[in-house]
Amino acid sequence: MGCFTFAKFTMVVINLLILVGGASLVAIGTWVLIDGSSFIKFLVPFMTNYTKHANVPVFFICLGSVMVLLGILGCCGAQKESKCLLIMFFSIIMIIFISEMAAGIVALVYSSDTKEILRNWALPVLKKYGKEEVFTDLWNSTMTTLRCCGFNNYTDFSESYFYEQNGRLYPPTCCRTPAGYPCVEENAFFSHVVGCYKKIVSGVQMNINLVSAVAIGVTAIELAAMALAIYLYCYLDDKAT
Ligand SMILES: *[C@@H]1O[C@H](CO)[C@@H](O)[C@H](O)[C@H]1NC(C)=O
Ligand SMILES: *[C@@H]1O[C@H](CO)[C@@H](O)[C@H](O)[C@H]1NC(C)=O
Repeated sequence: MGCFTFAKFTMVVINLLILVGGASLVAIGTWVLIDGSSFIKFLVPFMTNYTKHANVPVFFICLGSVMVLLGILGCCGAQKESKCLLIMFFSIIMIIFISEMAAGIVALVYSSDTKEILRNWALPVLKKYGKEEVFTDLWNSTMTTLRCCGFNNYTDFSESYFYEQNGRLYPPTCCRTPAGYPCVEENAFFSHVVGCYKKIVSGVQMNINLVSAVAIGVTAIELAAMALAIYLYCYLDDKAT
């Protein structure tokens, strides 16, 4: 099998996979959009929060449609040895590739601000801990689940509503003392319970590794597809002249 035949075959197979993947995304997105409640029953509970938002299925449908279009272009372009389709395929992937790079740079630039924004929001709001029920419950369950205390540490609760109302006590999660011991400043200090910000960042860090792995994979596939398309295009161009 010659180099060209192999490249052509690879291109057709890859694009058939893209086509099937895209069609599946469109089907899933449409299903969720039309009959979301029955679809959600098949999913693990944590997905429920995400599929509830209408823009997730719409995003699936858009992404799927682009993949179907790309699959058809690449498949037909390679199969029919059409330079025109191949260059269209190449251009679309190039546009997607450049957009992704731009989005990545924006995300990187904004990620340093996220820290500041969160800090400025969380610190004053923690002073109202124990006053507003919705917020208190949310923060309480966060601290219980993640085993953390405050934004930075227990001192975030000093002068808080909870602290003043409970005779200068910190929330129970801020102390590692056995049940029954009040969570006074001294106990909280020696307990060294880590702040929730640190806990959340390490949690996000784990997901960032996953996101980077996916991003690297997608980038590699895009580069390979562009290289294949341009190789086929140049070969056909050579043959024509
Ligand atoms: C937070 O939850 C714990 C149990 O998980 C409870 O004992 C405590 O009273 C709650 N604190 C507030 C302020 O609601
Ligand atoms: C609590 O966090 C603040 C802000 O990061 C820091 O200045 C302070 O020293 C910490 N206190 C303790 C007891 O760790």
